[in-house]
Amino acid sequence: PLTATVNKQDRLEIGGCDLQTLVKQFGSPLYVLDEATLRTACRQYREAFNTYYQGTSQVIYASKAWSCLAIVSIVASEGLGFDVVSGGELHTTIKALEAMGWSTEQIAQQIYFHGNNKSHQELIFAIEIGCTIIVDNWLELETLVKLGNQTGTLSIPILLRLTPGIECHTHEYIRTGHLDSKFGFDPNQLDAVFTYVSQQPTLDCRGLHAHIGSQIFERQPHQDLGLVMVEWLKKAQNHGLVLQELNIGGGLGIRYVESDDPPSIEQWVKTVSESVMKACEIHQLPLPKLIAEPGRSLVGPACVTAYTIGSRKEIPQLRTYIAVDGGMSDNPRPITYQSRYRTVVANRMSEPCTETVTIAGKHCESGDILIKDAQLPQTQPGDILVVMATGAYNHSMASNYNRLPRPAAVLVQEGEANLIVQRETYEDLLRQDRLPQRLLS
Ligand code: LLP
Repeated sequence: PLTATVNKQDRLEIGGCDLQTLVKQFGSPLYVLDEATLRTACRQYREAFNTYYQGTSQVIYASKAWSCLAIVSIVASEGLGFDVVSGGELHTTIKALEAMGWSTEQIAQQIYFHGNNKSHQELIFAIEIGCTIIVDNWLELETLVKLGNQTGTLSIPILLRLTPGIECHTHEYIRTGHLDSKFGFDPNQLDAVFTYVSQQPTLDCRGLHAHIGSQIFERQPHQDLGLVMVEWLKKAQNHGLVLQELNIGGGLGIRYVESDDPPSIEQWVKTVSESVMKACEIHQLPLPKLIAEPGRSLVGPACVTAYTIGSRKEIPQLRTYIAVDGGMSDNPRPITYQSRYRTVVANRMSEPCTETVTIAGKHCESGDILIKDAQLPQTQPGDILVVMATGAYNHSMASNYNRLPRPAAVLVQEGEANLIVQRETYEDLLRQDRLPQRLLS
C-alpha cells in the first residue's frame, strides 16, 4: 500500500512530498502518483510468479488503467510488458520504450494488442511493429489473414481470446467472462477456430487468452479459469496445435474503502499458478508460459487525487454538501459504477472527524458526487481534500465535461516531484475546434 506519512505541520505527505505544497506548486485538482508504490506492486507480481510458478511467466500491464510515457517507462524498467487496446495505447507504449532506447524487436516482444473491434489501420500498425495480436472474433481472424497476405507477412503472432463462461461478483459493466459478453470467441466454437487457425501459414497461434472481469475479490473464479484454460490447451493439442502461452487476464481487486478485503498480489499469483500447474499435471501437458495482465492492482493504490475544498451547503436535518474543484470529469467511477472511495483532509490530518458530509464535484449534474457520507474534520474553503487509490481508471477515463481542463499529474519519489502530465489549458480545449468561415459572415 501507499507510503503516506503525516509531517510536523500535521499535513499528509506522499513520497516525501507535502500535498498542500504540491497543490500550491502544480495547481488543483492534482493526481499524485507515488513511484515507490507502483514499483513495489510490479515487483510483487514478478517475484510471486518466480516463487509459485515453475514454468516461465510474464506480467503485462493493462495500459487501459492509466497509460502515459512516465508510467510506461517505470513499468517497463520493472520488467513488465504491456497489454494495449487501441492504436493510441500502442503508440504511447512504443514512444516511451523507444525513448528508453529499445529496439523494435524488443518492443514487439513486450506488447499484446487487445480489442473486440480493431480497425484495419490498427491491425496494420500492429503487424508492422510485430507485436502479438490477441484475436477476439472471426472477422478479425479473417481480416488478419487478408492483411498478412497483402503485406506479405507470414506468421503473425496471435493469441485467441475465449469467453470462459465464469461468473464473478463484480459490477455488471466490468464483468467480461460470462458467456453473454461482447469479448472473445464462444468456447463452443473452439474446434472450428483451431481447425481454421492450424491451416493458416499467415498466423502463428501461440496460445490462448481469457479475462473474467475486474475488481474481483474472490479467488475461486481465477482458480476455475486456470483449469478451464488448460482444458482448452489440451483440445488444441488434439488439433495438432502446440500452444505455448496461456494468458489468464487481470482482475485482482484493490481496497478502496476499509471494508474491501481483496487477496494480496502474492495470494492471487499463487492461486492462478497452482491451478494451472495442477491442471497441466492432470492433462499431462508441459507448463505453458503463463501471462497475467493486471492493471488496477498495479497502479490503483499508487495514486491519490488532491482537490481544493470550495463551497458548502447545509440542508438542516438532511445533508451537508462540500464541493471540490473537480469531480466526474477527473474521476468518473462513482457516477458510472457507484464506486466508493476513502478521503482525508491533507492539512488537518490529526483533527478528529466531527461531521458527516457529502463530497460533491463542480459539474452541472446532480449525480456528480464523489463520496457520500464521508467522515471529516471541520473544514474550510481552501483546505486540501485527498481521495485515495485513484491511479486506475481515473486519468485514463477523464473527460473535458463542462469544458474543464484535465488536471496535471505529478510523480513523487523521496521528496522530489516531477510533472508527468501537464495540466490542460483553455487553449488546449480549443485545439481541435475549427470554425468554418461561413459561420463568421
Ligand atoms: N485484461 C483485459 C482483457 C481487460 O479487459 C482488463 C480490464 C484487464 C486485463 C485489466 O483488469 P484489472 O487488472 O485492471 O482489473 N473502467 C472499469 C474497469 C474496466 C476494466 C476493463 N478491463 C473501472 O473503472 O472499474
